[in-house]
Amino acid sequence: MKKLVIAGLVLTATSISASPFEKPTDAIEYRQSAFSMIATNFGDMAEMVKGRKDWDQQQFSQRAQFISQLSLMPEEAFAVEGTDKGDTKAKPEIWSDWDGFTAKLNKFQGDMANLAKVSMDGDERATKRAFGEAAKNCKSCHSDYKYR
Ligand code: HEC
Repeated sequence: MKKLVIAGLVLTATSISASPFEKPTDAIEYRQSAFSMIATNFGDMAEMVKGRKDWDQQQFSQRAQFISQLSLMPEEAFAVEGTDKGDTKAKPEIWSDWDGFTAKLNKFQGDMANLAKVSMDGDERATKRAFGEAAKNCKSCHSDYKYR
């Protein structure tokens, strides 16, 4: 469990005072919003990789940096109790296998950070290769932890 130390107080990430969410539905909407923004940015990058859209290294790199930051956001929303129920496609395995889930999340975060870095160097081929690696994360996690 991550701990925040604020003015001498030790708060766990899931304690009420550390959570920005008032109720479970807020946390569900928050993580879905993050994934929705991830998907929009990722989709545009995929169009460039497939050649359906002109390659724009700067635009691509900007999107990779957006996703790199967005990928850090869902975790605390999954950590909220009661978010396994309701309007969510999250599978119960997220909570019964929390370590497995967060390992996939961390791999995704690492691959996106790497893509953001590689794309900033400006090499189109290296960028496309790093994109291919990052793209594997979506299906890998969804097949185990998300209902279709
Ligand atoms: C570590 C696991 C994990 C990774 C990696 C991941 N997702 Fe997801 N994704 C989820 C889970 C779980 C949900 C369901 C969230 C919910 O409904 O509460 C979800 C939901 C979504 C949604 C639906 C959002 C909505 O509006 O309800 C989209 C779109 C999506 N993911 C796209 C992607 C794309 C694209 C990638 C890769 C670039 C990706 N995801 C990577 C676990 C993951």
